[in-house]
Amino acid sequence: MHMQTLPLRALLVLGLWHTGRRGLASAPEVQDQPKKIAVVGAGIGGTAAAYYLRQEFGAGVKIDVFEPGNVGGRLATVKIKDYDYETGGSVIHPLNLHMKHFIERLGIPPRKDVPSKMAIFDGKELTFEESDWFIINFFRMLWRYGFSYIRMQMWVESILDKFMRIYQYQQFGYSFSSVERLLHAMGGDSFLTLMNQTLEETMMAEGFSQFFLNNIVAPVTRVNYGQSVRINGFVGAVSLAGTDSGLWSVDGGNKRVCSGLLYHSKSELISAKVTSISVKVRPSKTGTTSTFYEISYVGESGSAHSLYDIVVIATPLHEGMSDITFSGFSPPIPSHYPGRYHQTVSTLVHGLLNVSYLGTTEPASEFMVSDILTTDLKDLAFNSLSSLNPVHTPAGYKPSPASQTKVWKLFSSQPLSEEQLQRMFLSWDSVSETRWLAYPEYRVPYRKTPPFILHNRLYYLNAVEWAASAMEMSAISARNMALLAHHRWHGQAGKIDQEDLHTRIRGEL
Ligand SMILES: Cc1cc2nc3c(=O)[nH]c(=O)nc-3n(C[C@H](O)[C@H](O)[C@H](O)COP(=O)(O)OP(=O)(O)OC[C@H]3O[C@@H](n4cnc5c(N)ncnc54)[C@H](O)[C@@H]3O)c2cc1C
Ligand SMILES: *[C@@H]1O[C@H](CO)[C@@H](O)[C@H](O)[C@H]1NC(C)=O
Ligand SMILES: *[C@@H]1O[C@H](CO)[C@@H](O)[C@H](O)[C@H]1NC(C)=O
Repeated sequence: MHMQTLPLRALLVLGLWHTGRRGLASAPEVQDQPKKIAVVGAGIGGTAAAYYLRQEFGAGVKIDVFEPGNVGGRLATVKIKDYDYETGGSVIHPLNLHMKHFIERLGIPPRKDVPSKMAIFDGKELTFEESDWFIINFFRMLWRYGFSYIRMQMWVESILDKFMRIYQYQQFGYSFSSVERLLHAMGGDSFLTLMNQTLEETMMAEGFSQFFLNNIVAPVTRVNYGQSVRINGFVGAVSLAGTDSGLWSVDGGNKRVCSGLLYHSKSELISAKVTSISVKVRPSKTGTTSTFYEISYVGESGSAHSLYDIVVIATPLHEGMSDITFSGFSPPIPSHYPGRYHQTVSTLVHGLLNVSYLGTTEPASEFMVSDILTTDLKDLAFNSLSSLNPVHTPAGYKPSPASQTKVWKLFSSQPLSEEQLQRMFLSWDSVSETRWLAYPEYRVPYRKTPPFILHNRLYYLNAVEWAASAMEMSAISARNMALLAHHRWHGQAGKIDQEDLHTRIRGEL
């Protein structure tokens, strides 16, 4: 066939993946469809799960989504003066195909592009400053770092190529019962090794220098995950893919995708916090017994409980994130799995930057750098400093130089004090702080990641964050969970944890 000669990525980018042989509403006509499904959490993971569950199980099932806070979770905006700005998850990679599919399906445009310029600050001065000209950047990089930068991009691309296989597997309806199985299907043993080594070890073994790691790689892991090059190699590669061109975000704010998916999935939003889940066995009509999950929840109108056939947990089960008690399970399910989430404080300052603080002699009226990354320094109070554009780009909008009052976003692991802000800003008229438990604190070697399957028909979406935390990772996990729940409900073992999918699917095309 013609298509076989096209590389997989070209197929995916052309959108042909969408015409795979699996139709959309493909739930087979089986008598015992589940009647009620619960999703706990309405971030991108939970709302994408609702969307894919509807796709898998059809129109007949009732889907309830529990959320005590705002729909969007870690995707959130804050209003400053007349405009809204992202405080949580902000950028999306051009090859994040589920996120792309969502906005196309929901009819939401991507945000209009605004030019940006990156620089790296070492606590005293800017060691690298991007120019408007590609060729100048190229030679500056080459001058300082030799061919490392290009080799790094090639290394990331080779990982991304394997990563992209997941879209084809999912299009053909395949699912995986654990994070390890999913990673292995994409990249074989090499992906599991990535999980078990630091990014530093991995890149040193690939021949990158400590100098390059300190000056280019560390600033990138710091801005994306608030952590050093000692995060695992897989999340490290995801982080470095964030230096690719073509990053995008959603017009009006990324969280719009969540409310859009919720609406599209025709699920019911229950504004309540789930407090406990217990397993109940009831006699059924046919004389056998059936298992249900009883969800207890607390909302504004008090507490209540309800029975479900299938439950998907789409919030991290970790200290300080969500407190859900599981009862009646054997073996027991803990409220909190081991490992912590890393605090990232997002501080939005509407003010005038003191450009001299960055050690630059450029006049503020010409200082157009929008993203200042930092090297790994003990006494630096922040990880990154970025000039923000509103989530909706007004007509005729142009980025302004640092001589004008504008919105700057600082990421730091601790809240910033008044004195710290005074060192960086000449003046400001508002400060808005959000303290996130943002993503896992990545440690190597990893303990076993938490399970996708907590019990028969009780699933845990956020286990995937221990490989890497990103909007697309939650979306991939959501689709995997819907497929897994469907196949397990209908006893279709042939669609779960299949080996050698990569070569097998190529034969099927
Ligand atoms: C500062 C920051 C920057 C980031 N930058 C990026 C980026 O640029 N690109 C990117 O792709 N990713 C980024 N991320 C990561 C990304 O935001 C997350 O990986 C993603 O949003 C996680 O979505 P989720 O739905 O899985 O979890 P969440 O968004 O955390 O959703 C979980 C939801 O569950 C709810 N909940 C909790 N407990 C209960 C309960 N007991 N009952 C009911 N509901 C409950 C919560 O209120 C929450 O709304 C960033 C994250 C942060 C914090
Ligand atoms: C990861 O490292 C641990 C400890 O060194 C080891 O026990 C485990 O087998 C490794 N896992 C993989 C997949 O390599
Ligand atoms: C701006 O920063 C420089 C360098 O840190 C400092 O010497 C100067 O006093 C600051 N200016 C103001 C007005 O605070």
